[in-house]
Amino acid sequence: MPQTQRPVGVIGVGYVGLVTAVCIAHLGHHVVCLDVDEAKIEALRAGKVPIYEPGLDALMAGARDRLSFTTSYDELCERSRVLFIAVDTPPSPSGDADLSRVERVVRDVSARDGERLLVMKSTVPVGTGDRVLAELESAGAAAIGYVSNPEFLREGAAVDDVLHPDRIVIGAYRERDGDEIQRLFAGIETTVVRTTVPTAEMIKYASNAFLATKISFINEIANVCEVVGADVRAVADGMGLDHRIGPYFLQAGIGYGGSCFPKDVQALKQLAGNSGYHFQLLNAVIEVNHLQKRRVVGKLQERLGGRLRGKHVALLGLTFKPNTDDLREAASIVLASRLRAEGARVTAYDPMVAPGSRADLFPGVEIATGALEALDGADAAILVTEWPELVALDWTVVRERMKGRHVIDGRNVLDAALVTAAGLSYDGIGTVDRTVAAGEPVTSSEAR
Ligand code: UGA
Repeated sequence: MPQTQRPVGVIGVGYVGLVTAVCIAHLGHHVVCLDVDEAKIEALRAGKVPIYEPGLDALMAGARDRLSFTTSYDELCERSRVLFIAVDTPPSPSGDADLSRVERVVRDVSARDGERLLVMKSTVPVGTGDRVLAELESAGAAAIGYVSNPEFLREGAAVDDVLHPDRIVIGAYRERDGDEIQRLFAGIETTVVRTTVPTAEMIKYASNAFLATKISFINEIANVCEVVGADVRAVADGMGLDHRIGPYFLQAGIGYGGSCFPKDVQALKQLAGNSGYHFQLLNAVIEVNHLQKRRVVGKLQERLGGRLRGKHVALLGLTFKPNTDDLREAASIVLASRLRAEGARVTAYDPMVAPGSRADLFPGVEIATGALEALDGADAAILVTEWPELVALDWTVVRERMKGRHVIDGRNVLDAALVTAAGLSYDGIGTVDRTVAAGEPVTSSEAR
């Protein structure tokens, strides 16, 4: 039950902020959410969830009487003492995290009188807490405390990740501030890591960078598997049984995307570089991830006899992963752009992307109303995002709608036997299921 008398404030109602706010309200606390985007706040006041996140609407409806929304810092600071900061920290042109929104929040809060506790949820470079505190002190706002409480939620599973996390990390300058935040999460059963602010900040970056490294590693293993005739799925299963490795994040595919891994890996590399350390491993992780998307285009060229000009390619799925409407750094953007540059006609379908929308990200791409409509007359199809409805497609029907036969499974999730039984050819990423449909060119490695 509520430990804090005054409502908790949450600044920024994007994925992290909104899910955090709703989950804190679900735990029994009153929460005031602030965002500078008036339309978003209006929608939330009307009970509408502006993002697609499974389970969030129901949880929000259940905690409605404990949630309020505002665009006013005066109101927020009047009502709340503990303020979670969950604004975005996008990459700047140099690759460093752009902290301008965080800085703005700190300025807006410190301009208002009163004792406060800032809790940083946004992913910020190591050293940010020290800097913010020093700035606050030099501006005479010594009544503001600071805690780093990084977030580890995954989009698409965010509610569950917040309510049932693997750990809660709390880095504090003052013991009592850390205690207060730990009490706030008292309804959640998990390991609580209490540490310093810089260490908490680093735990976040190191975790994301390690997960991204795991993905690039398995993707390189997949690429080698293709050359030596091994199957990466079985390799990953075999590796994952070793408890020191674990079975997670070993799904080979067309690379990682989203608003976190690409930006955070880059930011950690940059952070190390700015301190004079050349983080070699992360360079490779980033490069492998770029190349992984381009390899799919190469594979398609091989299958379609070299040139893609005039060929029709259907992209199945556009979001960076299923169960989200997020297109940030999605592999589909790079793929669509490369295919268009090669002169291909590109159609696409995604349950979260309406026809005629997002021409900013997908110029020249025809977004269809359904998967079969996108596949109509296509020479080849690429499964880009493993949405359940796409994995469950009836491949016999797909075969009837397509002109050509090539299916590339960019996520290694399709049942190759079903695809090939329908008369289509199948290519995974690092799998041995590759089948050659009649009339297809045979590559030199296969001829050997
Ligand atoms: C990631 C982390 O998993 C969260 O712990 C973290 O809180 C979040 O970033 C963040 O920093 O805010 P998220 O970006 O939502 O979460 O998505 P993930 O489920 O981690 O997937 C990231 C990308 O990796 C996706 O493109 C996914 O398709 C890809 N991926 C994931 C693989 O290619 N292979 C895998 O085995 C796993």
